[in-house]
Amino acid sequence: MKKITIAIDGFSSTGKSTLAKQIAKQLGYIYVDTGAMYRAVTYFAMRNNFVSENHLDADGLIENLSNITLQFHFNEEVGFAEMYLNNENVEIAIRTIEVSRLVSKIAEISEVRAKLVEQQQQMGKNKGIVMDGRDIGTVVFPNADLKLFMTASPETKAQRRFDELIEKGQQVTFEEVLQNVQERDYIDTHREDSPLVKAEDAIEIDNSHLSKKEQYELVMELVNEELGAG
Ligand code: DC
Repeated sequence: MKKITIAIDGFSSTGKSTLAKQIAKQLGYIYVDTGAMYRAVTYFAMRNNFVSENHLDADGLIENLSNITLQFHFNEEVGFAEMYLNNENVEIAIRTIEVSRLVSKIAEISEVRAKLVEQQQQMGKNKGIVMDGRDIGTVVFPNADLKLFMTASPETKAQRRFDELIEKGQQVTFEEVLQNVQERDYIDTHREDSPLVKAEDAIEIDNSHLSKKEQYELVMELVNEELGAG
């Protein structure tokens, strides 16, 4: 059976990873959450004092990039691959609001992007992959077979993120989350290197008013069309 590459980009908290996981599971493909990789580098930078709320030592981090090893290990129990930073499972540690506040600063550093993009391209070289992020259809896999671009209203995004964090037992307010989602989207779309933009050939999906099921069915139709083609 033909294998394809599926690129899912879009704004923060638009449900990219939920959708990507569902599709990957259905097709038996590898799923890669590239946001987790930027978060893991951010977590490394926080721990080593290269970044904090009012400080960024980009040169220090760049010098230490070769000391960062990122791997995904599939966890049967949860049904998806978890992020490992230098052999330590950081899947939970990278999802905090502290990491969310600092990650855009780290994702602006070109050397960081170059390292992660190279690793992402390696992971996708045999196709059969669903990758989500901000620059997958534009930079990582400009020739992806199917490109989706996800959007939703700011309130919908913040509500989803807020529910997720509360479910994980984190102490946050809705306002705090809304502000973080808006700030990140602003920085992600305005950075110099690989800003978040919709690839010309991407299909835009605004899921503000779509249930997860409706969205999944819509996207599976597109996937099946692509699989049936040529
Ligand atoms: O998908 P996420 O919210 O977990 O991503 C965290 C941050 O990482 C996001 O604010 C921007 C950055 N990122 C990026 O710059 N490029 C990617 N391909 C994925 C994420």
